[in-house]
Amino acid sequence: MEHLRADLAALTPYTVEAVDWQGEPLDKLDANEADGDVPPWFREKLAALAQNLPQHRYPDGEYVALKTAIAAYVQTWSGEAIAPNQVALGNGSDELIRSVLIAAALHRGGILVANPTFSMYGILAKSLGIPVWAIARHESDFAMDLQAAQELMARETVAAVFVVHPNSPTGNLLTAAELDWLRSLPPTVTVVVDEAYGEFADTTVVPELAAHPNWIVLRTFSKALRLAACRVGYAIAPPATVNVLEALRLPYALPVFSAEAARLALAHRETLLANLPSIYQERTRLTQTLQGWGWRVWPSAGNFVYARSGRDRAVFTELAARGTLIRHTGGGLRITVGEKPTGDRLLARLQECGWGI
Ligand SMILES: Cc1ncc(COP(=O)(O)O)c(C=O)c1O
Repeated sequence: MEHLRADLAALTPYTVEAVDWQGEPLDKLDANEADGDVPPWFREKLAALAQNLPQHRYPDGEYVALKTAIAAYVQTWSGEAIAPNQVALGNGSDELIRSVLIAAALHRGGILVANPTFSMYGILAKSLGIPVWAIARHESDFAMDLQAAQELMARETVAAVFVVHPNSPTGNLLTAAELDWLRSLPPTVTVVVDEAYGEFADTTVVPELAAHPNWIVLRTFSKALRLAACRVGYAIAPPATVNVLEALRLPYALPVFSAEAARLALAHRETLLANLPSIYQERTRLTQTLQGWGWRVWPSAGNFVYARSGRDRAVFTELAARGTLIRHTGGGLRITVGEKPTGDRLLARLQECGWGI
């Protein structure tokens, strides 16, 4: 492979572990997608969209209609007046993560992450030759080791800090001390607060943007809004930052169907998000049941729980063999909170493996 960059040979693509499952249904609780698909009436609207969109035209390269709808949506949950020029779009928020890395860190320094966390920050940074420095989290609540963070900042040229609010896979929100630390970072350091699970947590740092022009908030249509198939993510940031992110986006990166589907989801957001209370209920049930079996389960503000059973690898494998796929990551198990029947099957299959009897 002398024709390619040698450092890329060590890269592994982002994958969720595949299992050889022939039965039905396969309960996918491994990617924090919505367990329930969009309702049939919404699917009909999507079909009508596909039927009527001109296929021979590029999308509107500036996606004005979608950015306008997103700005209005952000305003509803942040209380902040947001203009369309404070919204950048991506082919999934993954694309925006790469754009932020190019804009903030390439040729400038490395990035700081706190493990365990979303792995794409590290994977994408490495693909660009950007150093990745990881600090640890405290096991008790998975808050970041801020002393280690501070020492790292003093030692290395940290160009950007990536945090998730709430964190994946561990489910914890940023603490007051972590927020204070982020606020204290110099304006030369980009702070990315990834709120992929923001709808579930019903909290946001968007109001911080006015005081901290170096902050960028990431959100996605892939989780609570149930459009993972469409790959639509967005960033909220000051217009100057948005200009750069938009310039880095590949032209027309967002297919016109995806952009229109995202607008449709926002128009019907109250219905699409109406299942949040049942997700909270199910999250509590799973947490309490697993705790009752002696598992360690941490409180989660997302649509997933993070747990350690004492024999996690075996649990992962035995569940997969029975048709429930979860994630074994960060030294524990991340289990997407699905609908109640999916949770019933999960618990029954765990009992078949010898838990909770
Ligand atoms: C924290 C976090 N950020 C970003 C993403 C990627 O989202 P998208 O589907 O918008 O690329 C995920 C997906 O799992 C995630 O967990």
